[in-house]
Amino acid sequence: MEKSLQPIGLFDSGIGGTSIWKEIHSLLPNEDTIYLADSRNAPYGQRSKEEIVELSFKNTDYLLEQGAKMVVVACNTATTNAITELRKAYNIPFIGIEPAIKPAAIHTKTNAIGILATKGTLSSELFNKTVAGFTDVNVIEQVGYNLVSLIENGKLNSPEVMELLKEYLQPMIDANIDYLVLGCSHYPYLVPQIKKILPETVAIVDSGAAVAKRTKAVLKQHNLLNTLPHESTQAFYTNFNPEVLQSIVSNYPVAERDF
Ligand code: DGL
Repeated sequence: MEKSLQPIGLFDSGIGGTSIWKEIHSLLPNEDTIYLADSRNAPYGQRSKEEIVELSFKNTDYLLEQGAKMVVVACNTATTNAITELRKAYNIPFIGIEPAIKPAAIHTKTNAIGILATKGTLSSELFNKTVAGFTDVNVIEQVGYNLVSLIENGKLNSPEVMELLKEYLQPMIDANIDYLVLGCSHYPYLVPQIKKILPETVAIVDSGAAVAKRTKAVLKQHNLLNTLPHESTQAFYTNFNPEVLQSIVSNYPVAERDF
């Protein structure tokens, strides 16, 4: 099969990366995709760098076995901890997702921005290098303890989630932030709750649309864009709790696979 006709592979520790898949599918509807939700091993955010690298290699191997032409690491934690190692080890293009600190830090008027992400992302070298470039901005970092586990367990709309968000966002409100950066691909699903807590003047930013644009540009650059008119296939595989992923991508079949 011609390489450009092969699918784009995506992986996340669970269902969160579907927020990235949605952006990619809407920009590139002709592309076939395979999405892996490694929900059995979620959350990645509390794991060591070594474990995150190992899990990222496992997911990439599985996507390559399924014929992926490129891999989108639809997880901030895996990107900030493992993308350098992935790029060294495999001869395919990788797209990663990192918290959108830069646009928020450039546009802030109150000189204060908030970032909600996993412990793994906030402690990574890659993230800290980015933040170090904006010493004149007050960056309020908050680990979203337990949010991913609750989302993975189907409790997206629960009072527990709302309580945690209130606790995590209050110091940011007190510091007068005007941007909140969502540094985890699970968090765009929390936007309705977050909006109930934050003042209307705070802009909420994530990296989904930028990742989709970058995916298109890199496919083009490698002559990998699928230009054959056809009805594209969107495959979703998970290794745990298929009903949760199914509730998010209700128009597509979800298969339980052992990877
Ligand atoms: N969706 C993830 C991210 O973007 C990972 C969350 C986790 O498993 O802790 O960071």
